[in-house]
Amino acid sequence: MARMASPAQLGYPAAPNRVGKRRVITAPRHLLQIEGMHPPQIDTMLDLAESYVLLNRSGTTQRDLLRGRTLINLFFEDSTRTRTSFELAGKRLGADVINMSVSTSSVNKGETLLDTAATLNAMNCDLLVVRHGQSGAPNLLAQKVDAAVINAGDGTHEHPTQALLDALTIRRRKGRLEGLVVAICGDVLHSRVARSNIHLLGTMGCRVRVVAPPTLIPNQAERLGVDVFHNMKDGLQDADVVMMLRLQRERMSGAGSLVPSPREYFRFWGLDAEKLAFAKDDAIVMHPGPMNRGVEIDSAIADDPVRSVIREQVEMGVAVRMAVLDLLARSNRRND
Ligand code: NCD
Repeated sequence: MARMASPAQLGYPAAPNRVGKRRVITAPRHLLQIEGMHPPQIDTMLDLAESYVLLNRSGTTQRDLLRGRTLINLFFEDSTRTRTSFELAGKRLGADVINMSVSTSSVNKGETLLDTAATLNAMNCDLLVVRHGQSGAPNLLAQKVDAAVINAGDGTHEHPTQALLDALTIRRRKGRLEGLVVAICGDVLHSRVARSNIHLLGTMGCRVRVVAPPTLIPNQAERLGVDVFHNMKDGLQDADVVMMLRLQRERMSGAGSLVPSPREYFRFWGLDAEKLAFAKDDAIVMHPGPMNRGVEIDSAIADDPVRSVIREQVEMGVAVRMAVLDLLARSNRRND
């Protein structure tokens, strides 16, 4: 069996410390956003995830770790890879995993988010993974439930586990994060993935660029500490990492005004071999999925076995989510 880094080696106590009768929690209670996290906290999560990569590759599981714990996947928005990834992560650690999607829940019958929270609380769930169309919904739930809440994407706000899995993928390929030039290209305006990545990569010392037409860049993006580019040639120049984003048409009201036709968009903003040549020779290509082939990325690039790390991102996703569930379960131990 692959050797797991011990919690102490990672800077976390194996179990919450006690000072007299008071419990002192040093691991985070929830994972709601990357903004505000410090480099050692991020490193701890990435290091633990790294050990889960080895464990997963060795074909072993750690089913005793979350035995008797309940994880509820509460998804108010469609998802394939994120939900499956959390489900697999929970099961590999031995948790009882329940998937609740909106179409089968009472929310469609008019129940409010807070009623749902009260119901879930009564079920003594330990870990609550939430995806919601409204920015801030997981934060609200975190105030109302006893479970540890993990944000699996809220509106255009954040998607912390995606940024962690992206960072792990980059770190494994490049050997470091500090000093790398990362170009995040496409629909930055609507992307919670971009926002979480900007916070994480900036905190870890990357030079982050956003590359998109002005209509797809948030107002005052520079305040987030990024450099803004309005053409792929300049934006990709000497980049170590090229991260492509999907056009999130479902979040565009009056979509016609924000982007030209898909064909036109591909011509100026779609990543093909010609545009990738502006980046460093060994630049890697990333995409959180789902991809619109032929719109923001050419199929040949997405499937390029040398440059594209898109499949590796999916693998890292499971390891990162195992690490997050592990850490949160440690700090939210019941009955002690
Ligand atoms: C992203 C999301 O849902 O924010 N996808 C994902 O989690 N893998 C990006 C997207 O939907 O384009």
